[in-house]
Amino acid sequence: MSEKKSTNVVWHDHLVSNEEREELLKQKGVLLWFTGLSASGKSTIANEVAHRLFKKGKLTYVLDGDNIRHGLNNNLGFSPEDRTENIRRIGEVGKLFADCGVITTTAFISPYQEDRDSARRLYKDGQFIEIFVKASIETCEARDPKGLYKKARSGEIPNFTGISAPYEEPVKPEIILDSDNLSIDEEVEQVISYLKDNKII
Ligand code: ADX
Repeated sequence: MSEKKSTNVVWHDHLVSNEEREELLKQKGVLLWFTGLSASGKSTIANEVAHRLFKKGKLTYVLDGDNIRHGLNNNLGFSPEDRTENIRRIGEVGKLFADCGVITTTAFISPYQEDRDSARRLYKDGQFIEIFVKASIETCEARDPKGLYKKARSGEIPNFTGISAPYEEPVKPEIILDSDNLSIDEEVEQVISYLKDNKII
C-alpha cells in the first residue's frame, strides 16, 4: 500500500524553517512514540505526559491509535499489512507535527520492530523517542478495560495482539516503563525526567 504512485511531483522548500518555528514556540519538536500491548497504559500515559507539559506552557498533541482509526486510518484493519500501513502513516503525520515544533505523543500498539524503525528513520537524531510500556499479557488481560481480551480469547476478535497476533518487544527503546509495577504518575514522572535530562524541555 505504501508503493509510490505519484510521478512528476517536485519538493518545495519552506520559507520558514523548523528551527524558526521552534524558536517561536520556545520548545523542541519531538515525537514520543509509546508502544506496547493493548491495555498496557500507552494512551493514558501519552495523554498525561501531554497534559503535564501543556500545563508547563508547552504545545503538545496526542495521536492515539483508537482515535486515528476513526478517521485518517479508518480504512485499515489489523492484518500485518494494515498495521504496517497504519504505523507508516502515523510516522509521517507525527513528523509533520514534530516539524511544526509540537511535542507529539503517539499511542499505537505498533507491534513490529521494523515498522517502528522505519518511522524512526524519518526523524532527526534525538527527535524520535521510543517508549516501551512494558506490561505482561497477564496484567493487560486482567485490566481488559474494553473487554477485548475476553472477546479475543473466545475467538470473536481475530488477530488480537498478544493472543493471536505477535508483539515484538522493542530492541533498544530510549525508555522502558514498568507498567506491571509502577503507577501512572511514576511512569509520567520517568518520561518527564528523561525529557529534562536530555534537555528537550
Ligand atoms: S496497531 O497494531 O496497528 O498499532 P492500534 O494501536 O492502531 O494497533 O490499534 C489498537 C487498538 O485497536 C486496541 O487498543 C484495541 O482497542 C483495538 N483493536 C481492535 N482489534 C484489535 C486487534 N485485532 N488487535 C489489537 N488491537 C485491536
